[in-house]
Amino acid sequence: MRLLVSAGPTREFLDPVRFLSNRSTGRMGYAVAAAGVAAGHAVTLVSGPVALPPPPGLAAFVPIVSARDLLAALRDRLPDADALVMTAAVADFRPADAAPLKIHKGDMPAELRLVRNPDILEALRPLKGARLFVGFAAETDAVLESAAAKLARKGLDLIVANDVTRPGAGFEVDTNVVTFLAPDRAPEALPLLSKTEVARRLVARIEALAAARRP
Ligand code: PMT
Repeated sequence: MRLLVSAGPTREFLDPVRFLSNRSTGRMGYAVAAAGVAAGHAVTLVSGPVALPPPPGLAAFVPIVSARDLLAALRDRLPDADALVMTAAVADFRPADAAPLKIHKGDMPAELRLVRNPDILEALRPLKGARLFVGFAAETDAVLESAAAKLARKGLDLIVANDVTRPGAGFEVDTNVVTFLAPDRAPEALPLLSKTEVARRLVARIEALAAARRP
């Protein structure tokens, strides 16, 4: 299979030195990419700025910075993919105006005006065709309900819900606690596992979904 995986945060610049972002380290997404390579798939990893080296054996590595960069990179590469796995933590908002030079402290507005970034999965939905779309859901409350709503709204084949308030889960740790949700199937809750093992099980799930689709 040809897997297109996104990982890490996006950065939304206010000026050349300041940005809005989030706590994603890329560990979960890089583990998915590495698990895909280990399972013999051709993996393209599109990554926001993180401190990790790209896993060996990738078909391609595409660094991006902002949500709009990520959308453009995924739109370019989607035609050559059989499955898209959106592990990236996309900033939902960006500053309405980005200054070309550093804003001096005295000139900084007291309130920042933000505009919505595109929802990447929803924007790519018209190009989905027979491809598998897998999302992640980073939740802090009503975890399964919120993840199920995202699964339906974004037209996904699978969503991986993680409660990012739970110790050992979510951002900035080497482990995760996730539940796989797919349409018309009972949720599958996994115990606390390394991100490497979560990724291995996710790739196996994607392989099973792809096999079930073959005539
Ligand atoms: O990088 P780590 O430190 O290892 O942390 C891992 C993680 C917590 C980032 C990861 O496990 C995770 O949950 N990634 C998804 C984070 C997220 O953006 O969740 P969300 O619930 O806001 O978004 C739902 C889905 O829509 C995600 O697949 C996301 O990539 C996608 N999305 C979100 C916003 C947006 N504008 N466009 C999108 O396509």
